[in-house]
Order: sequence, then structure tokens, then C-alpha cells
Amino acid sequence: MMQGKRVLLIIGGGIAAFKSLDLIRRLKERGVAVTPVLTRAAEEFVTPLSVSALAGEKCYRDLFDLTDEAEMGHIQLSRVADLVVVAPATADLMAKMAQGLAGDLASTLLLATDTPVLVAPAMNVRMWEHAATQRNIQTLQGDGVLFVGPNEGDMACGEHGPGRLSEPLEIVAAIEAAFGTGPLASKRVLVTSGPTHEPIDPVRYIANRSSGSQGTAIAQALMRQGAEVVFVTGPADAARPQGAQIVEVQTAREMLEAAQAALPVDAAICAAAVADWHVIGASDQKLKKSKDGTPALEFGENPDILKTIANHQTARPTLVVGFAAETNDVIDNATAKRLRKGCDWIVANDVRPETGIMGGDENAVTLISAEGADTWPRMSKTDVARRLATAVSDALTKASQT
Ligand code: C5P
Repeated sequence: MMQGKRVLLIIGGGIAAFKSLDLIRRLKERGVAVTPVLTRAAEEFVTPLSVSALAGEKCYRDLFDLTDEAEMGHIQLSRVADLVVVAPATADLMAKMAQGLAGDLASTLLLATDTPVLVAPAMNVRMWEHAATQRNIQTLQGDGVLFVGPNEGDMACGEHGPGRLSEPLEIVAAIEAAFGTGPLASKRVLVTSGPTHEPIDPVRYIANRSSGSQGTAIAQALMRQGAEVVFVTGPADAARPQGAQIVEVQTAREMLEAAQAALPVDAAICAAAVADWHVIGASDQKLKKSKDGTPALEFGENPDILKTIANHQTARPTLVVGFAAETNDVIDNATAKRLRKGCDWIVANDVRPETGIMGGDENAVTLISAEGADTWPRMSKTDVARRLATAVSDALTKASQT
């Protein structure tokens, strides 16, 4: 699928640079040509000889190398590829990109290129979280630069958090998606995410607890495999997935309308924590405390978005996936829910407070399908999303073959 494409791979200087060697190997296995460029700092971590031996091509190193300029000028070099990949992208390199600096070969190529750029950051967690780095990321995203990672975990410097370079196969998947050649290329997927807010009056609402982080991670993982994603979200704290079509809603009724407007889709992943009820006759003025007691609220049932989509008469997606947040008898309740809702899969999780899953970074899920229950080990929400996206692409591929 990626056969015949060319990547200009800029390797930044960081301990994660060693993973770029594996990345080159993985790309070559897939028939992708790699033109490698090393920054001066990167040469402290990997040698030009090993890079060029794996790439099977000359390794470009220095802006003012007159031999290179005679062979191929830096402007021309910046245009040779279908995609420029920066892996690892250090905080320094990203700052240079955001500022438009061009003091060395790598930054000059990044400023001169007219091809899409994919960045795989790797740095210490404090450097990643620093306001300056976050500002640079926003600038780069605004400039249309694509990102993969960083991942969370233990770092070479002994700290823990976001900042680890994505694994080579994750970067390959992001490259595939950038080429529009991933396994979900040309597939359209609806993801619902976050809570809904059901107003009581203009300042009060009822809602389920939901950060929206699992929904965002799922949308990102699907896009990384090449999917076009419509992301219908309630008022969630989590960042919105860059590159998705984002539809912001407040209530369950608005969410249903937006979800239906997104049809037809190949798959629908309903990860939203939709409130089951809305307040009938919500006040358009703030309710006041009164001597006459508390207000009597009357509730009406909200539409079930998952059930509506799973039972759609004319545009039922090939695959409909729901979530079940349970506090007891997780598998039995989720299995019954799958049948009641008419969806294909239920991703069930145990959200008892002691699991720390609600609002946390990790999830432990069981995938319930017609074949039974498959319990996955506890892993980060990003890893759950990745595994789910792969299961979705396998199911859609299988369905298209029958
Ligand atoms: O019935 P329950 O809320 O436990 O079901 C959870 C699943 O159903 C989730 O996938 C959720 O997104 C979906 N749902 C929905 N609309 C509702 C209630 C739940 O789409 N009104």
C-alpha cells in the first residue's frame, strides 16, 4: 500500500533516536524509500553509517556541505519526498519549526518543504508540558503539521509521563494514514464522546461523569489508520482530536440529531456518557431558592443514540459499537446490553471508584461480541483505543470481503 512512496526522515538529537533505525527498517520492509537527514545532535546518538546502511541511501548531515549542494541543493532535497517525518522531534527542533528558523540543514528543509510534515515528539515530560512547548505545538498544528505521540510511560531520564517517542510501528501507521493508505482509508466513522449536559435552568444541569479522553483517543487511533472521523462531542474536558470533523453539542437530543446527520458511516463508536434523562420544562431563568421548599423537577427519557443507530432502517453502519460502564456483574450486564441495544460489540469496563478508571489514564475493558467476551489486560486509554481501532479495521475488512 505504501510501496513506492518516499519519506524524508529527519532524525533529531535525543536518546530516542535509536528507534529511528527500527523505523527505517520497518519502512523499507513496506517498500518505502527513506532519505535520511541527521541533525548534529542526532549524530551523538546514532551514526550516519548505520543510518545510511539501513536506508540504503546517502545520509545528509550538514547544511554547508558543498558536495551535497553540488549533488542536490537543500531546496531540492526538501521536495524529494511524499512526506517529511521528524522522528524523534526534540523540543528544540519543534521550537525552530514553530519560529521558522533555518540555521541548519534539518530546520532549513522543514522551512523549505512543500510536502506534508509528520512530527513524532520525544522529550522529557517537563519539557513536553512546558508552556513554551505547548505553544509551539499549537502553532505547528495550526500550520497543518501532523503529530504522532508522544506516548506516556517511563522515560530514559527516570521520570514518568508523556514524552516517550511513539513506537516505530505506531509511526508507520501514522505515515500510512498521512499517505491516505491506512487500513481504514476511505472509511468514515462516527464517534460520540463526552457527557451530555441536560439543563435544569441556564446555570444548572444534570450530567454523567465523563472526561471524554477515551473518545478522543479512539478518534485519534481511527484517524491514524486512515479513517475519516466525525466526532460528535458533548462538553468534555479532553482535547478534541485534531483532524476530525468536530461537532459540539450540549444535550442528548442534540447529540442524536448530530449523529444522525453524520450517517451514512461505515462504523459508529458510541463512547459518549449520555444522560438518561432531561428535565421537562427546563426554566429559561435561574431558579431561586424559596421558602416554599426545593423545586420539583420532572424528568423525561432521553433518546438512546446507540440503539437508534444500531436499529436504523436505511443507514445502519456495518459495525456499531457501544460502551458499558458498569459497577457490578460487568460481563453479564454488558452481554445483556449488547442484545438490548442491537449493537455488534460492547466495550465493557468496571468503573467502581477503586479501579481509578473514571477520569484516569488507564482502562481495563472486555470486548463483548456475538462470539463471546474477550478481556484485555489493563492498559492506557491510548492503547485501548489503538487495539479497538485495529479490531474495527479488521471487522470492516472482513465484512467487505463477504
Ligand atoms: O444504557 P447505557 O447508558 O448503560 O449504555 C451505554 C452505551 O449506550 C454507551 O455506548 C452510550 O454511548 C450509549 N448511549 C447512547 N444514548 C443514550 C444512552 C446511552 O448512545 N441515551
